[in-house]
Amino acid sequence: MARVLSFTSFFQKYRKIYILGLFFCLSALAALSITYFREQSFSPVQSQINLSLVTNEPIQPIPVKIELDSRRVELGKKLFHEPKLSSNNSMSCASCHDFTKGGTERLATSKGMNGHNLSVNSPTVFNSGFNSRQFWDGRAATLEEQIDTPILTVGEMGGSSWSDIVKKLKQDSQYVTAFRQIYADGVTQNNIKNAIATFERSLYTPNAPFDKYLRGEENAITKEAKEGYNLFKSYGCVTCHQGMLVGGNMFQKFGIFGNYFADRGNVIKADLGRYNVTNNELDRHVFKVPSLRNIALTSPYLHDGNAKTLDQAIKLMGKYQLGVEIPQQDVDLIMKFLITLTGEYEGKPL
Ligand code: HEC
Ligand code: HEC
Repeated sequence: MARVLSFTSFFQKYRKIYILGLFFCLSALAALSITYFREQSFSPVQSQINLSLVTNEPIQPIPVKIELDSRRVELGKKLFHEPKLSSNNSMSCASCHDFTKGGTERLATSKGMNGHNLSVNSPTVFNSGFNSRQFWDGRAATLEEQIDTPILTVGEMGGSSWSDIVKKLKQDSQYVTAFRQIYADGVTQNNIKNAIATFERSLYTPNAPFDKYLRGEENAITKEAKEGYNLFKSYGCVTCHQGMLVGGNMFQKFGIFGNYFADRGNVIKADLGRYNVTNNELDRHVFKVPSLRNIALTSPYLHDGNAKTLDQAIKLMGKYQLGVEIPQQDVDLIMKFLITLTGEYEGKPL
């Protein structure tokens, strides 16, 4: 009895503190469960989240240094800018993947030889070495395989054959010497591809402010960018845009909530996405989730270039991928976060 009494008097004495404590505990629990359910509310790809090696975050930093054969990188760089890879010596890979434009053309849809319209937006080549597959519809498994398309397609670089290209390069003594120094069999289709792909693997962009933040530099990004990152996670963007590239590692349907293509109109073959590769109904309008690295530099956005600004792209994602209308204030904060994903190339900010 004495014990009960003493507890009652204890409770009466400290009632205010007790109630305050209880209130704090309950609100912490509520906040936790809200974030938990918001994060779980879009779960089909949840299992694919690759939990970090460096941090506990769903996004990982790009390695600061990647070892590559520097001679192959140099040769690949020259070939990437080489107009002889096109039928009339007028276009190179860099014509559509311009390093002064974030590795893109900054056109809604890409322009090939003689003004031919390619009907899709040219994605950046920066960090393309980390993509799980290449192209919007993922039809190329590797960077080496990807190279056939621009070279052999008439509407891109004029449709030379590989034997034409090997012949042209063999007429250039500088190339003959450079290839010989690296590859025992000299100028060949495979060696051209190997050099270009090795160069592309050197196009990684480390040290973005966000990566510095992930590595523990608290002040590398602003308070608003941190809020934007939290929104990016709580809205569920991170279920699709995650991993080292903040994308690039899975396929997803565009138009999960609502029919983007019906709303936009004028549906063309390229809009079918991965269906064009697999002929599987489930792959209709399915695309590789694009990387959001250096996204501030690569407007316009989406495979059809339909979003002129990042602001529009974020709103379209909210509407069609998450079924929410994201308030302007949140869009602005998410944008502040996305801007921190711009990295460095060869030691200089892109
Ligand atoms: C005429 C413009 C043009 C030229 C020239 C061009 N590309 Fe592209 N590139 C594109 C377009 C457009 C795409 C997207 C096509 C698609 O997904 O169907 C693309 C996609 C890519 C991708 C895949 C990136 C990703 O995220 O999926 C890589 C890598 C690439 N190109 C490298 C090259 C290389 C190497 C060359 C030179 C051999 C080259 N490109 C020449 C326009 C061009
Ligand atoms: C269900 C998966 C999914 C979710 C969730 C999602 N995205 Fe996307 N995102 C995609 C796909 C797929 C594309 C490519 C669509 C296309 O071009 O047809 C894309 C494209 C983008 C692009 C354009 C990239 C470029 O290079 O053109 C941006 C920016 C983007 N998303 C940001 C976001 C943001 C911000 C959120 C959260 C508000 C979000 N995404 C949520 C799958 C998703």
